[in-house]
Amino acid sequence: MQIIRTKKELSAQVEACKSHGKTIGLVPTMGALHAGHLSLIRRSVSENNVCVVSIFVNPTQFNNKDDFKLYPRTLERDAALLESERVDFIFAPTADEMYTKEEMEESFVFDFGGLDKVMEGKMRPGHFNGVVQVVSRLFYLVRPDRAYFGEKDFQQLAIIRYMVGRSSLKGSFGSLQIVGCPIVREESGLAMSSRNERLSSEERQTAVNISKTLFASKEWAKSMSVREVEQKVTDTINGVEGLKVEYYEIVDGDSLQRTESFENAVGCVTVYCGEVRLIDNIRY
Ligand code: PAF
Repeated sequence: MQIIRTKKELSAQVEACKSHGKTIGLVPTMGALHAGHLSLIRRSVSENNVCVVSIFVNPTQFNNKDDFKLYPRTLERDAALLESERVDFIFAPTADEMYTKEEMEESFVFDFGGLDKVMEGKMRPGHFNGVVQVVSRLFYLVRPDRAYFGEKDFQQLAIIRYMVGRSSLKGSFGSLQIVGCPIVREESGLAMSSRNERLSSEERQTAVNISKTLFASKEWAKSMSVREVEQKVTDTINGVEGLKVEYYEIVDGDSLQRTESFENAVGCVTVYCGEVRLIDNIRY
């Protein structure tokens, strides 16, 4: 396994692999790797000849400076973990390598067909622009055959699929396939997240109530309307000391617009557990 720091070296290495007819899988991450990431990485390793994992805490997708500052950075530990997973390349650039000063400050706005106007997009203005800025850059550099993303970030996955769909019309990313992978949960049900590292052990116990409520809501959905379930999930989580719901929306799994029916519906939640902002979702 090799750790690459520059875009030039990354492109050179992947081009060399491609010239030998090898397929490339890309797993974009911000590091602080956990079992959720490992599920993406293992899938990439099993489906491609070469696996590239990027580790980059992307400043342009954080609209909260503290969140960016406090985001866990554990490159040494991550590299040790990836070494045993048969990953070929880690791409770990600095922000200066990734962006020019102008690009860092650029306030361009991608068109996501309205997918970014709801939920995370509404709460974190500019967030998805930053995500797409870095992800599309990684796609251009690596030109992967497949790229892997977790379904925990449901809206992010929908937006990346949309962006690739639009770009593939212009042939920008070749035949790139976006692979969504199921949420990985701790034994308690808590969705795996790098942000969980910031929870105290007491908060970790408290946070379990998020997934517990989502699981229970599948039962409620058998006898209640969509709006009633939304309300009951929100009230139940808010009823737990230490948790505060930012939003809970049951949306259509494709358009991400609120829906009246449980068909193809996904319930997406964001909850503050103390200072830590956690997201999760469930399919009905
Ligand atoms: O999901 C993440 O960790 C990030 O948003 C991503 C896709 C690596 C882009 O920085």
